[in-house]
Amino acid sequence: MKIEKICCIGAGYVGGPTMAVIAQKNPKIKVTIVDINSDRIAAWNSPDLSKLPIYEPGLAEIISETRDKNLFFSTDVDTAIDEAEMIFISVNTPTKTYGKGKGQAADLKYIELCARNIAKVATTDKIVVEKSTLPVRTAETIKSILQNSGNGINFHILSNPEFLAEGTAIEDLLSPDRVLIGGESEEAIESLANVYASWVSQNQILRTNLWSSELSKLTANAFLAQRVSSINAISELCEHTEANVDEVAKAIGMDSRIGSKFLKASVGFGGSCFQKDILNLVYISRSYGLNEVADYWEQVIIMNDHQKRRFSDKLIKTLYNTVSGKKISILGWAFKKDTNDTRESAAIYVTDHLLNEQALVSVYDPKVPEQKVYSDLNYLNSRTEQENEDFVTVDKSPYSALKGSHAVAIMTEWDEFKEYDWEKIYSEMKKPAFIFDGRNILNKGKMQDIGFEYYSIGQ
Ligand code: UDX
Ligand code: UDX
Repeated sequence: MKIEKICCIGAGYVGGPTMAVIAQKNPKIKVTIVDINSDRIAAWNSPDLSKLPIYEPGLAEIISETRDKNLFFSTDVDTAIDEAEMIFISVNTPTKTYGKGKGQAADLKYIELCARNIAKVATTDKIVVEKSTLPVRTAETIKSILQNSGNGINFHILSNPEFLAEGTAIEDLLSPDRVLIGGESEEAIESLANVYASWVSQNQILRTNLWSSELSKLTANAFLAQRVSSINAISELCEHTEANVDEVAKAIGMDSRIGSKFLKASVGFGGSCFQKDILNLVYISRSYGLNEVADYWEQVIIMNDHQKRRFSDKLIKTLYNTVSGKKISILGWAFKKDTNDTRESAAIYVTDHLLNEQALVSVYDPKVPEQKVYSDLNYLNSRTEQENEDFVTVDKSPYSALKGSHAVAIMTEWDEFKEYDWEKIYSEMKKPAFIFDGRNILNKGKMQDIGFEYYSIGQ
């Protein structure tokens, strides 16, 4: 099938950047991204590129090059579905917060809604591409809904999981390690492969069956998250043995069989994928009765929760066992640098814990808006919204966030944190002034020379 029009449902962190790059590399294909959230679409259409809903290095440039030429953002979902030959589903699949599988299973209601919508409005044959990360065998559901729509239209389902990481999305999309396409119809697979072939070499486009493709995405995230939890487990041991986790990571990472990536000890991994996808794997394994497999992967999550909790516990213990009424500054709210995404960020949980201990928290993040900080905390339901507002301030400048505070906790590895005038910060903090570096980004010796009491992870 020749592809002239593509529709993507879901203008999020995955759909937005992915479609922008597809449009840039295929100027002859019209790409329309639709979303039911009209504020989000308005932001994507904003003439002021600093107002785009998603921050990613390099994204604004591609949007300015392609928007309203062959890349369009719209809330008119039905028209975009009907006119496209290929439809990507890129809506969110959060962890269920109710009913069976609560807290672990993926909530597929948005996926099902999309499939029903496609079945309802389609008048010509379609290739439907799963872009969202899904539990293995979800294509079965989509297929069943589409094929039973009774309008005589042919649907081909493909799985094409996204491996981009936030903060490096554009780079990852432009030079991917591989593109994975799973499907049953060779013709449909080749139609999608041709879209990628505009900039990805054929031998990097991997073709598999549907189920291998779906499961590969969960597996890739589980393996990466497991590495972070493994090194974080070692970081605690380092703190008891005078070993240095960065040195240990370097030593084992130089073993080419292990490799150097995903060995940076931290206050715990966050992001929209790792926790959700592992919980998903745990849930699927358990539903097949594979309890040991489920317990094995669940331990990665347990380790990650422990890492976040022991960070805030250490801060409180070091501050003479009480932070009540003390100003504590949080540097960084995003789950990692170079993104404004905060989903599952360790900062949220550490702050929540500090608030339970009645600390006064001030937050600074270069890209996360004030409202997001409050909504992340309110979402936990640990206290009233008013209390969150009373106890938390979000500052526009790092220096005001740090002024007069007893301790600073570094939660995100933003490069700019290394460049701050730490002598000035020290002079404006309460003494003794404590730094808890949850990302090991500052120079310990230098901070101690200034006068700080400096604590890091695994050192
Ligand atoms: C999401 C999932 O979290 C990830 O697992 C998957 O791989 C891709 O989709 P992301 O793009 O980061 O990732 O999600 P999000 O930024 O929440 O974007 C989803 C968008 O879909 C939202 O803008 C939402 O409004 C939209 N949506 C959701 C619809 O347009 N229709 C729906 O029925 C549901
Ligand atoms: C991840 C996968 O990398 C990507 O392939 C997939 O498509 C989506 O999920 P992302 O969530 O954007 O991407 O971020 P990633 O760079 O993988 O980091 C996840 C978390 O682990 C972050 O909180 C990060 O700070 C943390 N991390 C990562 C560490 O603590 N140490 C490391 O060495 C690497």
